[in-house]
Amino acid sequence: MNILVAYYSQTGNTRKVAEAIFAGIRHTQKKLLAIEQVENCDAYDLIFCGFPVQHHSVPAKMTHFLQSIPQGKKLALFATHGSLRGGEKAIAAFYAAFSLTSGRTILGTFGCRGQVKFQLLDEWMEKPQERAWALEAQSASGHPDAADLEDAGSFAVLMLHSAEQFHGSDKKP
Ligand SMILES: Cc1cc2nc3c(=O)[nH]c(=O)nc-3n(C[C@H](O)[C@H](O)[C@H](O)COP(=O)(O)O)c2cc1C
Repeated sequence: MNILVAYYSQTGNTRKVAEAIFAGIRHTQKKLLAIEQVENCDAYDLIFCGFPVQHHSVPAKMTHFLQSIPQGKKLALFATHGSLRGGEKAIAAFYAAFSLTSGRTILGTFGCRGQVKFQLLDEWMEKPQERAWALEAQSASGHPDAADLEDAGSFAVLMLHSAEQFHGSDKKP
């Protein structure tokens, strides 16, 4: 199986998670690339796609990347966000990603917190539409931490397992 871990990251949080996922893949045919470096996705059987949540949704660059992935591909989505893990604000961004990937198979999602620079947080706190997540993000300092990265590695193992089951069933007559 040929695996791509593709990520978009502005301040490095999502890149760290991508690296942990990549390290968790016990497989020889694997590549870790920023989305800007991906020429096309045709050769891959499983594509991990990671992005920072921005304005409760998927950043424009990742939107374009997700839409460029051929129909029928198996995807595993991951994201970092300042708001609380498992909260509805972070989950909203995954729903946005689902709507961009119809026709592809989403095997699973992984989200964890990613710290936001203090100056930026102060700016967001002043904007009524951003204040709710910015308030939550005040406690995201230090994330992704070692436990987040360990979880990301476990996510990789789980997604690989699911993809292998699918891969096996693809080959059945
Ligand atoms: C422009 C901008 C918008 C953001 N919007 C949100 C948001 O709506 N919800 C949230 O939880 N975090 C938001 N964040 C925080 C980032 O999702 C978080 O810091 C993430 O880990 C950054 O990942 P990166 O270092 O890979 O770029 C925003 C950050 C930026 C810079």
